[in-house]
Amino acid sequence: MTQLARANIAEIEPYIPGKPIDEVAREFGLKGGIIKLASNENPLGPSPLAVKALENGINNLNLYPDDSCYYLARALAAKLGISSQELILGNGSVEILDFIAKAFINHGDEAVMSDYTFVMYKIITAIAGGIRKAIPLKDFRNNLDAMADAITNRTKVIFIANPNNPTGTINTAEEVKRFMARVPDNVLVVFDEAYREYVLNPDFPDTLQYLKDGRNVIILRTFSKIYGLAGLRLGYGIAKTGLISALRKVHLPFSINCSAQTAGLAALGDVKHIEKSVETNEKGRDFLCRQFDKIGLSYVPTAANFIFTLPMAKSRGKLPMDATKFSDGLLKQGIIVRYLPEQDYHGVRITIGTKSQNQKLIKALKKTLPH
Ligand SMILES: Cc1ncc(COP(=O)(O)O)c(C=O)c1O
Repeated sequence: MTQLARANIAEIEPYIPGKPIDEVAREFGLKGGIIKLASNENPLGPSPLAVKALENGINNLNLYPDDSCYYLARALAAKLGISSQELILGNGSVEILDFIAKAFINHGDEAVMSDYTFVMYKIITAIAGGIRKAIPLKDFRNNLDAMADAITNRTKVIFIANPNNPTGTINTAEEVKRFMARVPDNVLVVFDEAYREYVLNPDFPDTLQYLKDGRNVIILRTFSKIYGLAGLRLGYGIAKTGLISALRKVHLPFSINCSAQTAGLAALGDVKHIEKSVETNEKGRDFLCRQFDKIGLSYVPTAANFIFTLPMAKSRGKLPMDATKFSDGLLKQGIIVRYLPEQDYHGVRITIGTKSQNQKLIKALKKTLPH
């Protein structure tokens, strides 16, 4: 059967998601109290306003959703100061990545990306038959100068996760400006800003400015992270109308369901929930970093809602230790984190949780360290 698949499909390593709570409960015979810190979801849960709107909208499930997402698109466009025609919604921002591959990447086109970043860039490029050009991170950050150096006349697209997943680092406005000055007009730049709402660093770029300048950029954002709606699947892309109309041509009808539209609209206006989420994340980050420092666990300073820890790095105290043992040790105690090995990268990504989740993590972590 696999022989029937296109050659480039056979070579793809499928996406591996963070383990669901129920699966860990089954696997380890755990009864409850499992904490998922594996997929950078909002530990505070969904916006209460979104939950309320969902309850009120439940009676319309017999009808197809509005394929244009009229009300949600209008509200989002107003919030962003753009037109609805510069916006496309998707079943999660990964669906828009899929649209990008379908609409823009020809067989043999080059796609430039960091060698350690959101794995879907690699997968969608391979599905389209594109050629991945992987640029090593520099100090765990996207090396934009090297990415610009890598552009050839076969380059079609450049993917930049900012903040980068899984390292949590950002590229500054100045770096992006310097990079954009070197990108020719026949190359599309995708800024994936799934975690941008968590970033408080004033040097973070306002990439909408490149849209206003008429550049070929697509900015991706999502309701899965700070808005707490990962389970409903809702993301969006921002770009000039010409690019958006190409993306719309490859979209399948009704991929954004009624509940996602209703909840998304309500969550968008829930400023209180967003502020509380940022504050919880800040406090959690400070707490975890202090604890990691005490334990002697190395980590990469983060701008996002997760921390890339390095159990195998030269360290103090009872560390270093093997990263698989580190993450499995936590898993057995009901704490799900992500070990994401690739080439020379051996870090474990841990989502910042609530105060009590973070405390439990530290307790479990101390038990996991070699005695
Ligand atoms: C950088 C990045 N982009 C996109 C996504 C996908 O988000 P969505 O749930 O909107 O598909 C993720 C999810 O982890 C991510 O880390």
